Amino acid sequence: MERTYVMIKPDGVQRGLIGEVISRIERRGLKLVAMKMGTMQVETAKKHYAEHVQKPFFNSLIGFITSGPSVSMVVEGKSAVSVMRALCGTTNPLNAPLGTIRGDFCLDTGRNVIHASDSPESAAREIAIHFSAAEISGYTRIDERWLYE
Ligand code: RTP
Ligand code: MG
Repeated sequence: MERTYVMIKPDGVQRGLIGEVISRIERRGLKLVAMKMGTMQVETAKKHYAEHVQKPFFNSLIGFITSGPSVSMVVEGKSAVSVMRALCGTTNPLNAPLGTIRGDFCLDTGRNVIHASDSPESAAREIAIHFSAAEISGYTRIDERWLYE
């Protein structure tokens, strides 16, 4: 099983979409193994988005992501990284298909509601930034034998 890091960004929290987003993740069969809410520290956000440090949108991205509470999660399941990216839809919500979180709930690239790691390597890096090992719960859910062959 694979793990990925997911964040409901401050716009998703402000717009009352926490339940909607988590519900879609659970409905798909993915399992939440860690979760917390808080306003991200600027230093943490800079580490998280380090790959974008040279981009023109970096400062506004850091300002936005640290502007209010967000919800951080570790999500586990079969192909969790690619399944979560598919649930999110494309970075620019205008190109995101209906039925995806971004395609259903937002309009602007800079207010695209959710983050999900883009590769297993990014997932490992991001999970380590946001969670200690003790904050992650490994457990078996009762539906697993009906979810997986
Ligand atoms: P994320 O990391 O947040 O899950 O989004 P992503 O992989 O789909 O997109 P990425 O290229 O990693 O960009 C990270 C976030 O930066 C903001 N962004 N703004 N103004 C722009 O051109 C621009 N490009 C990216 C978005 O909030 C994007 O989610
Ligand atoms: Mg990204």
